[in-house]
Amino acid sequence: MAEEAYITLDGVGKVYPSKAGPVEACGDINLAIRRSEFVAVVGPSGCGKTTILKMIAGLQPYTAGSIQIDGRRVDGPHTDLGIVFQDAILLDWRSVLENVMLQVDIRKLDRAAYLPVARHLLDITGLKGFENHKPFELSGGMRQRASICRALVHDPPLLLMDEPFGALDALTREQISMDIQRVWMEKRKTALFITHSIPEAVLLADRVVVMSPRPGRIVEIIDIDLPRPRRIDRLPPIFTDYTNRIREIFKARGVLAMD
Ligand SMILES: Nc1ncnc2c1ncn2[C@@H]1O[C@H](COP(=O)(O)OP(=O)(O)OP(=O)(O)O)[C@@H](O)[C@H]1O
Ligand SMILES: [Mg+2]
Repeated sequence: MAEEAYITLDGVGKVYPSKAGPVEACGDINLAIRRSEFVAVVGPSGCGKTTILKMIAGLQPYTAGSIQIDGRRVDGPHTDLGIVFQDAILLDWRSVLENVMLQVDIRKLDRAAYLPVARHLLDITGLKGFENHKPFELSGGMRQRASICRALVHDPPLLLMDEPFGALDALTREQISMDIQRVWMEKRKTALFITHSIPEAVLLADRVVVMSPRPGRIVEIIDIDLPRPRRIDRLPPIFTDYTNRIREIFKARGVLAMD
């Protein structure tokens, strides 16, 4: 495992200073993510999921342990990744296509070479025909699809997603999770996907990391042994076994109460 790990979190922790005293967001995080693996993280609000994602991206310093990506210690922001946040942040004066191309422009890459890539991504995420629309002419789900395309257009080896479906309705979430699966199966990027949804985590991931309430710890890492493509309308009974197993972990920790 160690030598094939692409991302390694070794005893990682984060304490935020605050006026009321230090806040430990998470601690003792040990996780090795393989190249091309899809890892989902589920955990209660405030357990440090976003903090972990930001530390991997180099956007927040960690206060304990170490993070390595491809053998290099993360000690500041790095650009070889794509990030999708809960709300699609698109520039209203640029067309959908030009929003996707933003990454190409910022990185001063060859526009001619990347235009077909951008169009293809819009195609496979169901945005064909909307390339020249402005973001305000799109639905929330379409905007989020565009932001996923933008995160991928420069072909980064790593895709970080922080509750990318958080602001979407249930039906759109189902559709976009199928879109994400399709894109991931084609591109095989290493993916870290943070969600509050147990079924979404099981649906998409090779492994689901289950976290305790703050200060967040990894309670369990569950291998999801389901063939792809996984279809929401044809999930085998073992799917429910996985989701129930994760629910049991949360119940045991008082995160979920059923009775
Ligand atoms: N920039 C910050 N400064 C101080 N404290 C912070 C900061 N960001 C997060 N925290 C604290 O760290 C803890 C974890 O926050 P984080 O955003 O990582 O949780 P989360 O698991 O992503 O929660 P949610 O599911 O609600 O998004 C919280 O207690 C929060 O108050
Ligand atoms: Mg968060």
